[in-house]
Amino acid sequence: MPRHIAVIMDGNGRWATTRGRPRTFGHASGARAVKRTVEAARRLEIEALTLYAFSSDNWRRPDTEIAALMALFRRYLAAETERCVENGIRLTVIGRRDRLGGTLRRAIAASEEATAECRDMHLRVAVDYSARDMILDAASRLGAGGQFTREKFSEAMAAAAHAPGGVPDVDLLIRTGGEQRLSDFLLWECAYAELVFSPRMWPEFAERDLEAAITEFQRRERRFGDVGDEAPAAAIGSA
Ligand code: IPE
Ligand code: IPE
Ligand code: MG
Repeated sequence: MPRHIAVIMDGNGRWATTRGRPRTFGHASGARAVKRTVEAARRLEIEALTLYAFSSDNWRRPDTEIAALMALFRRYLAAETERCVENGIRLTVIGRRDRLGGTLRRAIAASEEATAECRDMHLRVAVDYSARDMILDAASRLGAGGQFTREKFSEAMAAAAHAPGGVPDVDLLIRTGGEQRLSDFLLWECAYAELVFSPRMWPEFAERDLEAAITEFQRRERRFGDVGDEAPAAAIGSA
């Protein structure tokens, strides 16, 4: 099983538009897909789930769409925090905080505090997130000329994203909505992630789609630069 699954939840707008509805209707339906996916991941005993909810480049969108998305996050936190506690799910938000509204910032802090002791799954929601900005921030925290290790750099990345450390690298990255790109999501943490692109629009993503992505992941051979299983290992002492 993948320990850490990350999802680029894409396709809300197109899903709504093809139904003659406003894009915000797609986001509201997308919020229900988030609930389903979190529940499914918990049932499947996934250790960490990171969901891309709002990228730093999404600030380019119309004000009305941004306001609707922010309202959905607030409502999600208000409605789901208690359920997270009941289900042992730690909820944290990664990304910048300084450009979010005060009410949302307080809601995030309250959810993080309420779920801080939960240990069965770690749900991370990426809001105002840019992987490149996190890398830049981490580099400037460590300062020029330092001899820092990957571990130290990962810690600085976590600090930059307001993320607790100790989350393993991404094993499986799923993007819905048919596009095949990363859109500035978890560039450092996805170094060896298996990428699965689904044509399904996010509002229609269901438990079976998560299971299908995991099955695809299990079919892949992860080599991490090594030669894999097909090459016979050289006999010791035969050189
Ligand atoms: C993903 O769906 C949600 C966010 C980016 C907030 P989109 O809103 O990008 O939907 P499409 O890609 O336009 O269909
Ligand atoms: C990525 O989707 C961000 C989220 C899903 C939150 P976008 O729809 O913003 O990405 P691009 O613009 O198609 O690359
Ligand atoms: Mg999109």
